[in-house]
Amino acid sequence: MLKGKHIILGITGSIAAYKAAYLLRLLIKQGAEVQVVMTPAGKEFITPVTLSSLSGKPVVSEFFTANTGEWHSHVDLGLWADAMIIAPATASTIGKMANGIADNMLVTTYLSCKAPVFVAPAMDLDMYAHASTQRNLELLKSYGNHIIEPATGELASHLTGKGRMEEPERIVAVLDRFFDSTQPLRGKRVVITAGPTYEKIDPVRFIGNYSSGKMGFALAEACAQAGAEVVLVAGPVSLCERHAAIHRIDVESAEEMYRATVAEYDRADIAIMCAAVADYAPETVSDVKLKRTLEERVLRLKPNPDIAAELGRRKRTGQLLVGFALETNDEESNARAKMEKKNLDFIVLNSLRDAGAGFRCDTNKVTVIGREGSSVEIPCKPKAEVAADIVDILARYISGEK
Ligand code: C5P
Repeated sequence: MLKGKHIILGITGSIAAYKAAYLLRLLIKQGAEVQVVMTPAGKEFITPVTLSSLSGKPVVSEFFTANTGEWHSHVDLGLWADAMIIAPATASTIGKMANGIADNMLVTTYLSCKAPVFVAPAMDLDMYAHASTQRNLELLKSYGNHIIEPATGELASHLTGKGRMEEPERIVAVLDRFFDSTQPLRGKRVVITAGPTYEKIDPVRFIGNYSSGKMGFALAEACAQAGAEVVLVAGPVSLCERHAAIHRIDVESAEEMYRATVAEYDRADIAIMCAAVADYAPETVSDVKLKRTLEERVLRLKPNPDIAAELGRRKRTGQLLVGFALETNDEESNARAKMEKKNLDFIVLNSLRDAGAGFRCDTNKVTVIGREGSSVEIPCKPKAEVAADIVDILARYISGEK
């Protein structure tokens, strides 16, 4: 999708600037024409020689070339671009962009740029979390800029938290999707829960279930392939996500899954509740391993929050909420009742009575029931294909085809 696209790559003074060389390499490999613009601090972290060698164009960082007096036109650059990416973007540059402080070539070019702008912040966790940074990012969003959120992990400061610049492959994937207008879920944000939850009894034991997470992961891949940005809230599973547009959040208990999912829901266009959430958790968790005795033991359980039902309560106009129902009897009527009770728009019904359907299998056989009366049977086939069919139904619904 990036072939022939004119891209301005803005690089600022963060240690993540070293990743910008790889990002540039990936963009060039995709066939983009890239002009690098650096802030003076950016040049302290990576040399313009490296970047001009990779891009095949001299790096621009000053308004004038000192010895020749040649003027670099930020206006022409801004008009030339099909997209501008600022990666890494420091708190300082984000602040200047948000407030129009055009005291260097990069921010001046940003203000002249009519093309879509993508910003990949990189900074220490406390700087990122600061109210000032968050407010500035909100301002950038309100100008229509796209924020490529930083990842969570070890930072240059050796602290761990949110602030690592997103990996170059993911940044390229974001751009790729942006320019691909054929994808049905392009520009949509999807939250998916997947897998089982583990409810702790003591440090070595838990209450769990047989869910493998395969259906949820297949849905995440299918949504990402359809162009969506996916947040995958995964219980304990032994699966890996593949697509760069999937952001995975690992959780263990229903309570953790509830908190992570609710926090993401506000920004989501679609939520698919595919996890097999434990309905109950032990009322108390022992700090030490419970010893075996000859006595009978009673484990008191408390109900877990119902994530799907909570999202159903919070649902805004335009948000699509999809649930799953695993039933053993009166399948269709139970599923429809669940859809009503949780305020879902679609419910995907699995029957444990069907061979090749449900837990742990690589195949599934489902019926997708819509609130407005539709019912589509998807025959037994690999979960990846079932997921693609479900995504197709949802995409057609969103586009008004119903
Ligand atoms: O009520 P039941 O568990 O059968 O409903 C299944 C649907 O509700 C699934 O979509 C499941 O992911 C979701 N659910 C949930 N939180 C719970 C229980 C179920 O999100 N605590």
